[in-house]
Amino acid sequence: MPINRPLRDWTGQVVWIVGASSGIGLATAEALARRGAKVVVSARKAAPLEAFAAAHPGAMALPLDAAAPGALKAGMAQLLARHGRLDLALYCAGHYLPVRATAYDLDEVIRHQDINVTGAMRMLDAVLPTLLAQRSGHISLVASVAGYRGLPQALAYGPTKAALINMAEVLQMDLKPSGIDVSVINPGFVETPLTAQNTHPMPALITPEVAAAEILKGWARGEFEVHFPKRFSRVLKLLGLLGDGLYFSLVRRATGL
Ligand SMILES: NC(=O)c1ccc[n+]([C@@H]2O[C@H](COP(=O)([O-])OP(=O)(O)OC[C@H]3O[C@@H](n4cnc5c(N)ncnc54)[C@H](OP(=O)(O)O)[C@@H]3O)[C@@H](O)[C@H]2O)c1
Repeated sequence: MPINRPLRDWTGQVVWIVGASSGIGLATAEALARRGAKVVVSARKAAPLEAFAAAHPGAMALPLDAAAPGALKAGMAQLLARHGRLDLALYCAGHYLPVRATAYDLDEVIRHQDINVTGAMRMLDAVLPTLLAQRSGHISLVASVAGYRGLPQALAYGPTKAALINMAEVLQMDLKPSGIDVSVINPGFVETPLTAQNTHPMPALITPEVAAAEILKGWARGEFEVHFPKRFSRVLKLLGLLGDGLYFSLVRRATGL
């Protein structure tokens, strides 16, 4: 029995993707537009959003900074003025820089929180009144397998993704009785501008297009947690079940950090 209503027919569905100027968000926007959804794309860089809207009839570019107070609420007002409803909100905006405790950078930690977590909270503030009034719709948060347990270099990033996973679980229980579905997307390594800075090996690296196909498959199956690629995400899930001592020593050995 699926947890969510399976999302298979995208014709005419109004989808808002925040974090859609590149990478996973842009590839998902393209996949949904191909299936007939009316996709509203947001991020800070206006040019790629406008290029997307120009290439996809029915699409709308809504440039904004998810970390700026009021921006997502104002964006939602524009979306409603155009479409009058919202069927799926995907929070895909994300920031990542490696941070270690031995070179702690508070400004970077706060930037991660602002974009990855507070931005998602601001999106909830913007979309919940409409979804609750509709008694329908779906909220999807892009977290990461890095949110399962602590990983080296992820002092700024990891806690934000753990927070999103927890947030999605709470939302699922709160919103089910109101007819609103919730999912959390936990990708492994995807080849995007975000990971281009990585110098370490990225096992099971996939393209944004493959990631988008996995996301659509997970939504079509009504999954709550959509994780991929399975050959990597399942290994991290298994690691997550280990006792603390074994987990710390295996991760240190595997990463050399
Ligand atoms: N790549 C991976 O291996 C991987 C793995 C697990 C999870 N993820 C997650 O997947 C999501 C997408 O990342 P990606 O890998 O596709 O990287 P990406 O191409 O760099 O995408 C990040 C998106 O977030 C947007 N963004 C960043 N700050 C923003 C802000 N303040 N306001 C609005 N939009 C903002 C960026 O656009 P602008 O710069 O134009 O604002 C961009 O569209 C992120 O949440 C990331 O943490 C990625």
